[in-house]
Amino acid sequence: MKRKKQDFISSLKIWYKKNKRDLPFRKTKDPYSVWLSEIILQQTRMRTGLVYYKKFKKKYPNLKSLSDARGEVLLKDWEGLGYYNRVKNLHSTARFIQKKFSGTFPSSQKELIKLKGIGRYSSSAIASICFNEETPAIDGNVFRILSRVFGIKKNISSSSSYSYFYKKSLSLIKQFKNAGDYNQSLMDFGSVQCLPKNPLCGDCIQKKICYAFIHKKQDCLPVKKKKAALLKRFFNYYVFSYKNRILIKKRGESDVWAGLVDFYLEEKKKKIKEKNKINNTVKKLITKKYSISFFDAKTKLSHQEIFISFIEIKLFNSSVFKTIEKNLDLLSLNKKELNKLAKPKVINDYLKKIS
Ligand code: ADE
Repeated sequence: MKRKKQDFISSLKIWYKKNKRDLPFRKTKDPYSVWLSEIILQQTRMRTGLVYYKKFKKKYPNLKSLSDARGEVLLKDWEGLGYYNRVKNLHSTARFIQKKFSGTFPSSQKELIKLKGIGRYSSSAIASICFNEETPAIDGNVFRILSRVFGIKKNISSSSSYSYFYKKSLSLIKQFKNAGDYNQSLMDFGSVQCLPKNPLCGDCIQKKICYAFIHKKQDCLPVKKKKAALLKRFFNYYVFSYKNRILIKKRGESDVWAGLVDFYLEEKKKKIKEKNKINNTVKKLITKKYSISFFDAKTKLSHQEIFISFIEIKLFNSSVFKTIEKNLDLLSLNKKELNKLAKPKVINDYLKKIS
């Protein structure tokens, strides 16, 4: 291992020995308690997290008691923490482990990450802290500390940088006797010393080797280039149907969902109120009785967000249906035929909903 890495690790160990935070969930290697603390601490400050951790541990001291709890009661206990999916997932995972594994927590990162609500970071934190598995937990602290100390200029907002930092961390974690200590020393070092704004460089143990300190680049590292704002688009889809037939359109090749199947589409600059939704071309074509209803959906692609209004027009006259098919250059299919064609997910979801 390179000299700089060695220096970084030995200083980090010294720092952690002296500055390790005294936290109640660090007094145990019980995976239930560590899991609970990790989920509570997601998107929550330590001070608030501690209050809730203590309250939950008192009321639900083990996995069984949590899995026996009623959902509404847990939601109430969680009140004030926000991001309620966390507690819903906590509950369903507790029940799952109780039922599937007779209450015994999986003991590897690969197994842990399969559980609801446990992602890359939490699975690595739990596996390293409870089972000493050498798996780095990569979060903002790690991005920041490694970028600054080693002068890494990768954009941490880009998804590819994760694996770069993971690899780098993997070579460092091996230098710790205890993998959980490595991950937690970085959490503490990032929260206490190497702060995002105004880091405490003056008395930092790493300052002799820290690239950012030496080059006065603390404010530029880590590199975080904001993603371009998502393009917002507004699609009005006209879904014409007659008996069990529906009018579809094959998409062109130059836009999203190239070559897939959708409906007659009118793209708008903004969302329009319901009563104004039918455009004049369509209005002129529906000359006989019809019924109309609306359904809104939204989908996010990598660079755009599409707000969709499905305008369902049920026709009762076959010649009107045929005229529309011809005039709008659409294709009439029955449900079975439509099922066979590839469609964007949001359209498939919609079709499932109305069938
Ligand atoms: N944030 C999330 N998990 C943590 C832990 N184990 N120690 C300190 N801060 C944390």
